[in-house]
Amino acid sequence: MTAPLLEVRDLRAGYGAVQVLRGVDLQLRAGELVLLLGRNGSGRSTLLKALVGLIPASGSVRWAGRDLLALPAHQRARLGLSYVPEQRAVFAHLTVRQNLRLGAKPAANGAAAPWDEARVFALFPALAARTRTPAQALSGGEQQMLALARALMGNPQLLLLDEPTEGLAPQRVQDTAALLDRLRAGGVGVLLVEQKPWAQTLADRVVVLGDGRVQFSGALAALPAGVSTAWL
Ligand SMILES: Nc1ncnc2c1ncn2[C@@H]1O[C@H](COP(=O)(O)OP(=O)(O)OP(=O)(O)O)[C@@H](O)[C@H]1O
Ligand SMILES: [Mg+2]
Repeated sequence: MTAPLLEVRDLRAGYGAVQVLRGVDLQLRAGELVLLLGRNGSGRSTLLKALVGLIPASGSVRWAGRDLLALPAHQRARLGLSYVPEQRAVFAHLTVRQNLRLGAKPAANGAAAPWDEARVFALFPALAARTRTPAQALSGGEQQMLALARALMGNPQLLLLDEPTEGLAPQRVQDTAALLDRLRAGGVGVLLVEQKPWAQTLADRVVVLGDGRVQFSGALAALPAGVSTAWL
């Protein structure tokens, strides 16, 4: 087995006096798609934010042997982490093309960058037709595509996705699932927060968050009924 790409130990984070994560342990390998499950408010979004550096955290997060917690968010992004937040964070007043350019980064390992504008437009023809359109004029589904497209422009080795198919039409949900499957096959790690059934079908492994900790990590089929009842 390859060494984990991401290794999280005893991660603690929250908002001021409110502690949400109370010691999260998690590993993720290249090419692995891990589905993060938990109840509303269990801290799934908080975990993604802590990993990308949007909120302070303590504990240990190793990324290909480096200590991520010591780095500011933009440096973590440069190392190959791309994040798509819950509320599609597109720059409303900027055009589609400008949004994509802001996401563009060379591949972190020095390899030829597989993702560029042409490839992203081939994948999302609806965006290709609207390069000069301000993001705010796109439909919700198109904004979601743009947020994902921008994340790909960063040539990620790890994608952190927070409910990426919220508000998408069923066909677009299927397209997203197929895309994630292909990215994984290409060696990208995916940490996915998603409640919908397609994500469970796709996941290599599920991680259940509850009470600020990981209550279960393993194949969905091996999820004990007790964990499911107590934490999902
Ligand atoms: N900016 C914030 N300030 C204070 N508390 C917050 C903030 N964001 C989230 N929380 C609280 O932290 C806890 C975990 O929230 P989080 O957003 O991580 O949950 P979640 O698992 O993503 O669930 P959901 O997406 O269904 O809300 C919740 O109790 C929430 O109210
Ligand atoms: Mg959330």
